[in-house]
Amino acid sequence: MITEQVARAADVLGAATRVVVLTGAGVSAESGVATFRGAGGLWEGSPVSRVATPEAFAADPGRVWRFYESRRRQLAGVRPNPGHEVLARWQDRFFPFTLVTQNVDGLHQAAGSRRVLELHGSIWRIACTGCGRLREDRSVPLAHVPPRCVHCGGLERPDIVWFGEVLPADILSEAAAAARRCDVLIAIGTSAVVFPAAGLLHEAAAAGAQIIEVNPEESALAALAAVAVRAPSGVAVPLVDAALARR
Ligand code: OAD
Repeated sequence: MITEQVARAADVLGAATRVVVLTGAGVSAESGVATFRGAGGLWEGSPVSRVATPEAFAADPGRVWRFYESRRRQLAGVRPNPGHEVLARWQDRFFPFTLVTQNVDGLHQAAGSRRVLELHGSIWRIACTGCGRLREDRSVPLAHVPPRCVHCGGLERPDIVWFGEVLPADILSEAAAAARRCDVLIAIGTSAVVFPAAGLLHEAAAAGAQIIEVNPEESALAALAAVAVRAPSGVAVPLVDAALARR
């Protein structure tokens, strides 16, 4: 069953030139990062309405930062898995190759992906709410919580898209343009229910791209996908890669 699904995915991908990959929390599951909607998901212990919104930050920045400090501490200890590693190699196999992620964990970059369109921001980037300055900071714990901008003294926040906020327009439009002109879009480890990220799949399909899904569970994508590989990405993506190499 899996063997057939992998072979079909490799057939579709082997005929493609322009490839887009859209990843979600599931691609990092085998690295030990909890998904959002699965059992034990991130928000079950901490209701989202209390931490990941601009209102929560305005009401109590220290509390929101303590939550992100705990996430940063958890993510600092995780490593990319074989799924991330194959995707990093594919940047040199397909042209153009566009990697789009909904994740904020930085694991694609840690695996060697040079350019990642981060739709929901990065937990390792900090933005000043005063002057807008962005900076990368991987220190765990941070020297001061909540951190303050060294240039203007403004309060800093995680450069993450919170609930009720819009996605970065330049990144979203680049991802949408790639989705509209690709031959194949591979969706890996996403429930495909959060828009506008999930809209990329519909845009790609409407423009004639084939959709390949990698997800051990059936998702909202079932009707859209030409091929579904029902296995964890850390296993499935290397299997597809090996099948491609044998072609
Ligand atoms: P979800 O938690 O909604 O979905 C994760 C998906 O990964 C599910 O469909 C699982 O079946 C699948 N999955 C679990 N383990 C897997 C594995 N080993 N390999 C492959 N797939 C696996 O996560 P997302 O779709 O990423 O947004 O959620 C999208 C957005 O919802 C997040 O970026 C976040 C949240 O609201 C923001 O924070 C703005």
